[in-house]
Amino acid sequence: MKIQAINGFKDILPDQMLLWRRIEHTAAEVFQRFGMREIRVPLMEKTELFVRSIGEATDVVEKEMYTFSEKKTTMRPEATASIMRAFIEHGMHVQQPVQRLFTIGPMFRHERPQKGRLRQFHQLDAEIVGATEPQVDAELIAMGQLILDELGLSTSLEINSLGCQECRPPYRRKLISFLEEQREELCEDCRRRTHKNPLRVLDCKKTACKTIAHQAPSLLEDLCEGCSSHFAQVQEGLDALEIPFTLNRFMVRGLDYYTQTTFEFLTADLGAQAAVGAGGRYDGLIEQLGGPALPGIGFAMGIERLALLMEQNAEEPLEQQTDIFLAALGEQAPQPCSRLIHQLRKDGLKAAMDYSGRSLKAQMKQANRCHARFVLIIGDSELEQQQGVLRNMQSQEQQSFPLTGSPQEQSQSLLRLLQL
Ligand code: HAM
Repeated sequence: MKIQAINGFKDILPDQMLLWRRIEHTAAEVFQRFGMREIRVPLMEKTELFVRSIGEATDVVEKEMYTFSEKKTTMRPEATASIMRAFIEHGMHVQQPVQRLFTIGPMFRHERPQKGRLRQFHQLDAEIVGATEPQVDAELIAMGQLILDELGLSTSLEINSLGCQECRPPYRRKLISFLEEQREELCEDCRRRTHKNPLRVLDCKKTACKTIAHQAPSLLEDLCEGCSSHFAQVQEGLDALEIPFTLNRFMVRGLDYYTQTTFEFLTADLGAQAAVGAGGRYDGLIEQLGGPALPGIGFAMGIERLALLMEQNAEEPLEQQTDIFLAALGEQAPQPCSRLIHQLRKDGLKAAMDYSGRSLKAQMKQANRCHARFVLIIGDSELEQQQGVLRNMQSQEQQSFPLTGSPQEQSQSLLRLLQL
């Protein structure tokens, strides 16, 4: 019997990889324009890290983590906690007061798989640590928007503020008493969470709880002066950068570490999986993980979702090009061709050849399959006359190509002819 991949774990096939590379490359390039530096953190961490940062009563920690209980380790469900752990462990704030970091890689959550929702998925993740200014919030959101723009995607942006340690406790009490009144209508998880972590109730996906959440008091109306002014300045900053947004006072995000600004980039084109990217401020997280009292803000985008949207935009599919295909015909040709092709590759060309000795027709088909721009035909008679035939596959024009000189010399003259 065939062994198949685990449900929710997907292969990314060569045809898709070009699009993935484009997404990753565009993001990495934009990140660097904003002074972000790449970091790679492990795929596994101590379970405690995620419990403490994401929060005990969240769906991610309660239901979705891939945990090896005996070893007390967990496959990372997101990157922020790991990056903050690394930040603290390496005392990165000592080197530089504001650290701008990004990472790209797989995350793991045991969710119900569907279109755009996987158990192994990939994120582009950006974090700015050490800056409290609201302009930084606007700048970070602008960076996310620029990645989406450069990928040709149109999404909408929603923002909210979740307040701070000062304005949260009174709001929490208000929310608890509201939820208490609705207790009968809430799902079992939400009844349990009402006292433990009431904000999570506002994030429940069950229809009945969602209806209640939409009637719940919003923190936005009860922000303290500091949070209110911070949020107003974030909005001014976005206006100044001409980034359109709408306020969504119901957005609470699914992770506990958020404070103040939160945001989501949304699409209407992926059914239930509307969030292409999301993030926010987490001003208490680093201290909570045993580090210095430094603020932070970041976001992550799901690469699968970006790729699905780009495929739906029905752009020309990306194809891997080959600069030159060597069609070696007859007994003698493969040997000199294999020397020449190695030299071409050393000189930076994407070159292919077929060692099967198949007919010219079969080899031309192969050249087309690998999207060759040129084919150099070398058979026994061409070798004898020291003249190959170079065909431009687009114009179908042919010219003879001298097979004299060393492979290095032949490669150089091919480079000139191909204008590379
Ligand atoms: P998140 O909202 O859990 O935030 O995930 C961010 C993005 O990852 C989502 O908007 C979505 O595009 C993608 N994503 C999440 N789960 C899945 C899944 N199961 N399948 C496919 N894509 C998925 C975070 O992870 C935070 N760490 C973001 C952040 C960084 N906040 C501050 N810094």
